[in-house]
Amino acid sequence: MTASGPFVVEARGLVKRFGADTVVDRIDLRVPRGGCFGLLGPNGAGKTTTLRMILGHSPPSAGTLTVLGEAMPAAGRRVRARIGVVSQDDNLDPDFSVMENLEVYASYFPHRRHRPLRPFLESLLEFVSLGDRAGYRIQALSGGMRRRLVIARALVNEPRLLILDEPTTGLDPQIRHLIWSRLRALTERGTTVLLTTHYMEEAERLCDRVAIIDHGRILAEDAPRALVAREVEPSVVEVRAGERPPPPELARQARVEAVDGVWHCHTSEPGAVLASLGDYPELEYLHRPANLEDVFLRLTGRELRD
Ligand SMILES: Nc1ncnc2c1ncn2[C@@H]1O[C@H](COP(=O)(O)OP(=O)(O)OP(=O)(O)O)[C@@H](O)[C@H]1O
Ligand SMILES: [Mg+2]
Repeated sequence: MTASGPFVVEARGLVKRFGADTVVDRIDLRVPRGGCFGLLGPNGAGKTTTLRMILGHSPPSAGTLTVLGEAMPAAGRRVRARIGVVSQDDNLDPDFSVMENLEVYASYFPHRRHRPLRPFLESLLEFVSLGDRAGYRIQALSGGMRRRLVIARALVNEPRLLILDEPTTGLDPQIRHLIWSRLRALTERGTTVLLTTHYMEEAERLCDRVAIIDHGRILAEDAPRALVAREVEPSVVEVRAGERPPPPELARQARVEAVDGVWHCHTSEPGAVLASLGDYPELEYLHRPANLEDVFLRLTGRELRD
């Protein structure tokens, strides 16, 4: 058992096939110890499948996988005891109260019972701003409260690695900001966070590194800012143009994508683009710095998934 290496997850040539479908296709992934790592990808990209292999719930079809220094899936039970998991669905027990859900979960980790349990569980509820809800039934909780409870539950075994599959999908901005601040607090205490998300803003705010995955392959991996610097032009001018086609001179100054009545002009020369737009005073435009969403769309394309 070596848990002290620089990577909490190391995958080499990881493959998952379901019948004839290869949904994870020879990925190499190294998640550094400490900080927050994001796995980004469109629907069906293979994110959950990858997490399920990391958790030992799904055996790889090929490749090698080490989690917290142990070979998976062989060490699955031992490794899972040291990981916190927030899965894509909430899977709370509706017959129990908030506190009872934590107590039942804690009973799976008797060896962690090195201090009085109840105050510890109360502190976890406080941590996710549910301190006043301990006696509530699960049905009485909003979606945001449930998700926070699942996060509290994932912390019951005091994991060094917390894995979250789309932690803020379907939640309002207030809850999303609260969850971001809690995840940041955890990384500041030394917990490694590995999450998946479709939200590029979430990834940009939280993640030290991200891997962009599509069709089971990693297309790029780096710090969000480094990806923006490397993969796309630094400026974007979005022009509301309706049906009108972009004028040819614009294509000399920018990489122009016309999507749903908006020209997305990706450029290193925003001044030239804006000067050209001076000929069209009736058009509304927005000039902004490039972001991770531009990288994501550049690498994964704009066609719909599902
Ligand atoms: N048990 C399974 N049997 C067959 N196919 C599966 C199974 N689990 C996942 N898949 C397929 O594998 C592909 C990747 O699914 P996965 O759930 O990993 O995607 P994802 O990136 O998590 O997507 P989302 O963002 O929608 O959650 C999909 O095409 C899915 O239909
Ligand atoms: Mg998924």
